[in-house]
Amino acid sequence: MENLDNRIRNTKGYDLIISAQEAAQMINDGDVVGISGFTNSGYAKAVPAALSERVNAGEKIKIDLYTGASVGPEVATLVQAGAIRKRIPYQTNKDMRNAINKGEVDYIDMHLGLSPQMVSYGYVKKPDVVIVEALAITEEGHLVPTTSVGNTPIFVKNTDKVIVELNIKAPMELEGMADVYITENPPERKPIPIMHPGDRIGTPYIECGWDKIKGIVLSEYEDKTRPLAAISDDAKKIGENIIKFFRNEVKEGRLTNELLPIQSGVGSVANAVLYGLMDSEFENLTCYTEVIQDSMLDLVKCGKAKVASCTALAPSPEARVEFIKNIDFFKDKIIFRPEEISNSIEVSKRLGLIAMNTALEVDIYGNVNSTHVQGKKIMNGIGGSGDFSRSAALVIFTTSSIAKDGAISSIVPMCPHVDHTEHEVNVIVTEQGYADLRGLSPKERARAIIENCAHPDYKDKLWDYFNRACQEAPCQTPHLLDEALSWHSKFEKTGSMK
Ligand code: COA
Repeated sequence: MENLDNRIRNTKGYDLIISAQEAAQMINDGDVVGISGFTNSGYAKAVPAALSERVNAGEKIKIDLYTGASVGPEVATLVQAGAIRKRIPYQTNKDMRNAINKGEVDYIDMHLGLSPQMVSYGYVKKPDVVIVEALAITEEGHLVPTTSVGNTPIFVKNTDKVIVELNIKAPMELEGMADVYITENPPERKPIPIMHPGDRIGTPYIECGWDKIKGIVLSEYEDKTRPLAAISDDAKKIGENIIKFFRNEVKEGRLTNELLPIQSGVGSVANAVLYGLMDSEFENLTCYTEVIQDSMLDLVKCGKAKVASCTALAPSPEARVEFIKNIDFFKDKIIFRPEEISNSIEVSKRLGLIAMNTALEVDIYGNVNSTHVQGKKIMNGIGGSGDFSRSAALVIFTTSSIAKDGAISSIVPMCPHVDHTEHEVNVIVTEQGYADLRGLSPKERARAIIENCAHPDYKDKLWDYFNRACQEAPCQTPHLLDEALSWHSKFEKTGSMK
């Protein structure tokens, strides 16, 4: 066996080494299990897979699963085995989504920045056991995280039983990239002293201690990160429209070429926007965001961005290899923080972020649905989008103007579910153009959104709805209640909003 002295820095640890199967035996039916991980990075893998084996062998075990956010396929085996009763606080997995929408799993979709305090305030049950992927355990029994921090510090603080998955393949050079700082509960809570995205305010490890560690599983699993989605033509145009908007903000004197710290959701549009910045006049950028994907790594690598703060890396498999190859370059430019800090409303407000996230649909008055297809079925969850939309200096939502080959208009009379309200949404961007909603009344907003963002196939229909609503029901926010959701019910009945 490889010499592990650099990874287990106290001889006590050697007596705790067990197999993943033995560790899985420590989990009981009905337990709340917290695991490390955020967007397929730094998640516990070996023990969840071993727990699934127990269930597949016929044992009756159902757990409540808490994570930082979405996690990788080894954990999805738990839902495939029917071993999950409740899921908190975010997911993106197809099997999990189906199980939730069939009513087989209870899901609490939460603002990720507020999810840690649900545990620390005792609003949800504390974890009976916490499984943490670490690259090393310090002499005092503290845990050095791998590629994400997420909710792990809060889970560890609020449990008596920790199983460590010591990933002996995780590069030791990752040590020092994490900056772990957690808040006290009110009334002891202090200001979070981050004045700049690059500030380090905590420790490079998650506080734990040997008393809590009940087992150490040696693991060689790699993060199974997702491939980079191809950048569609719509995404490219949305990216160009955002850059156009930024240029106008500079012209109007509200931004400089350094912009403000960028928060960006993930996916094809987010990549397109950031790649658009790469070839632009914007420079000396900083990022204060939830996850870093390929485009942000590239912005840092080419020197356009000086620093990027996040809670997790979410690179494609190829970008992950590149990151590890160049880890010494990235080491002082990328910071992993707990998600209560990466998504902190207080910090976001102080730094004045530019928040760019994606909507499923937007209504004519600027209310945004990011989570519920047809107002009923969960897609992924709100993630961090609400943390940032309620606190950033500039709140931008993007969407293609149509979905499902044009059968759906993403601009609708009324959203059947709202995550981000008209009060906080500043700018809507589609491939058609952008609507700057700042300082506009509801009716002015509707005109701007229909004119600039709607797809030509649906524009006249939206004008017709809005004009009739203004005539027949003139008020602050005109709606025809019998018709407002008729586009959605038509889609349900006929497969098209047309
Ligand atoms: N009605 C029904 N389905 C729609 C839709 C609409 N108005 N708009 C899009 N969709 C479908 C797409 O067809 C696609 O379906 P498919 O997977 O079957 O192909 C799916 O939703 C994803 O849409 P896509 O256009 O590929 O966008 P995306 O991958 O960028 O995801 C969200 C968009 C909104 C689902 C995603 O950004 C999300 O979950 N956001 C909430 C969380 C968040 O913002 N996180 C970052 C914060 S830090």
